[in-house]
Amino acid sequence: MMEKVQQVQAQALEEIKACEDLQQLQQIRITTLGKKGPIQSLMTMMKDLSPEEKPAFGQEVNECKKAVAAAIEAKMAVLEKAAMNRKLEEEKIDITLPGVPFRTGTLHPLTLISQEIEDLFIGMGYTVAEGPEVELDFYNFERANIPADHPARDMQDTFYINPKELLRTHTTAIQMRELEKAQGQLPIKVICPGKVYRRDNDDATHSHQFMQAEGLVVGENITLTDLKGTLQFMADRMFGEGRQIRFRPSYFQFTEPSVEVDVSCHICGGKGCPVCKGTGWIEVLGAGMVHPNVLEMAGFDSTKCSGFAFGVGIERVAMLKYGVDDIRNFYINDTRFLKMFDRFD
Ligand code: DAH
Repeated sequence: MMEKVQQVQAQALEEIKACEDLQQLQQIRITTLGKKGPIQSLMTMMKDLSPEEKPAFGQEVNECKKAVAAAIEAKMAVLEKAAMNRKLEEEKIDITLPGVPFRTGTLHPLTLISQEIEDLFIGMGYTVAEGPEVELDFYNFERANIPADHPARDMQDTFYINPKELLRTHTTAIQMRELEKAQGQLPIKVICPGKVYRRDNDDATHSHQFMQAEGLVVGENITLTDLKGTLQFMADRMFGEGRQIRFRPSYFQFTEPSVEVDVSCHICGGKGCPVCKGTGWIEVLGAGMVHPNVLEMAGFDSTKCSGFAFGVGIERVAMLKYGVDDIRNFYINDTRFLKMFDRFD
């Protein structure tokens, strides 16, 4: 009889050992320890034993039951742990995988060009100055040596708010404010970016709103050569080393002499191409020596100081630099266009 118990136990332990599946182990628990299982039937065999034999046998069967139950518990723990490890392995997150990039906004191309211009002038010791877009006629025209009823005002068709206020037509208005603000103190070195407005009909090269950056330097013995050196530096930085610049005589009320400035074409290098319309040169800005009247009106002695000024069109630079053929692209906010200027892509 005792052998029978040993046999049942050995067989059960064998099965438990071989089992590699949690569900199957549950099944083994039910079949071996359950009411109809081999251990239970050993118990029922007790009634055929003599009273002397019964205690020892009963104890043996109990030991057997305990051993089998303990083996099942131990195996259960092992299999559960293995299942958990498997699950963790399957659900492991690979933190080394690159994330899903999300789209961020980008700086507007006109902002990029403005900042580029600001940066290069800050590098030469200039400070950045701004002014109001709704400007007084006084700073936009009068202080710029353009008196009321002067025909030159027709050159810049103006949005008037009332007889005294207007949407500034050029950043030269900021120049006039800066001259006044200096209260006769020298030197002045400012770069003034901003939006300007004119009553133009919009087309591929005209916009009723656009951007300029005004440069102004006033000090002792400032000459046209200083202007030329400064603009050469800007041309090299904006359009690449080795650009040539040339001055053509021009006319502005607020400068004397006045010049239009051309840069040698950065596409063909000066040979002639569609971008420079076959001339090898591209007109980029207006400039000149600050008119003595302008200096005097702002409280400077024009026999003791002199200055140069220039006004560059931001859209113009952006169009040339990036090969944009229609100015309206800068204003219609087509993200396919704007996305092309993402420096960080
Ligand atoms: N204000 C002029 C314009 O809008 C540009 C300009 C020309 C600015 C000569 C200047 C300058 O400072 O000296 O057409």
